[in-house]
Amino acid sequence: MTKDNHNILPATEEKMITVRSMFDSIAVDYEKLNSYMTFGMDRGWRKKLLEHLGAKPNSTVLDVGCGTGDLIRELQKRNIKAIGIDLSFNMIKQNRALGNIVQGIAEQLPFRDDSLDGLVSGFSLRNFVNLKDFFKECYRVVKPGGRIALLDIAEPRLPVIKEVHDLWFKKCVPAIGGILSDKKAYSYLPASTVYLPDRQTLLSMLNEQGFLGSGHKQLFFGTVQILDATVPVFKH
Ligand SMILES: C[S@@+](CC[C@H](N)C(=O)[O-])C[C@H]1O[C@@H](n2cnc3c(N)ncnc32)[C@H](O)[C@@H]1O
Repeated sequence: MTKDNHNILPATEEKMITVRSMFDSIAVDYEKLNSYMTFGMDRGWRKKLLEHLGAKPNSTVLDVGCGTGDLIRELQKRNIKAIGIDLSFNMIKQNRALGNIVQGIAEQLPFRDDSLDGLVSGFSLRNFVNLKDFFKECYRVVKPGGRIALLDIAEPRLPVIKEVHDLWFKKCVPAIGGILSDKKAYSYLPASTVYLPDRQTLLSMLNEQGFLGSGHKQLFFGTVQILDATVPVFKH
């Protein structure tokens, strides 16, 4: 954590409480602002994520950090049985998706071993307190042969792209968020990418957990990333 952002980014022990109250406070306008700040591209990225998941109609998929339900609605359009879990009660309250949504945490999923065909997460990874525990839970709850696909923002590597991205994401987004919603939350959201390990570390973490065929894809000039992996058929 750098000197610049230590005021915005909570330390590990207080992260979950801070993150929950932040999402509670921005829940009402979250979807609208998300769409403005990504110029509507967030919808396309979620669709891409579901291509990577490759779940079949009638399968059961859990969305972790489901928020206001964007991904759940996309899953339902594909006749997939979607379940959501989120830390923030206010985000869940805004959820317009029909389906089963529970309040809970990514690091301790309230589902039985091998009970789901797939698992997704959209723009939530960097908010989780312990990614290792989350990956462990993904592996536990998804059936042998099932798939996971995880979407989040990323730090672009090309210098020119990085400059433009930093200007928009680290200056404009907090300013616009401050006018239309909550400045602290919209300063946290871009800054929180630093919580995410780099691509190689993320892939190693998935492999160490036991997943097969872990993949990483960059979207929109490396500003967005998708991770995907398969639970081995002979899991136990
Ligand atoms: C940026 S929002 C993403 C919402 C939605 N998935 C989307 O695609 O727009 C992140 C969500 O993750 C939830 N969240 C943060 N930490 C969590 C945790 N440890 N367990 C479960 N949900 C968490 C937040 O409450 C919030 O709703």
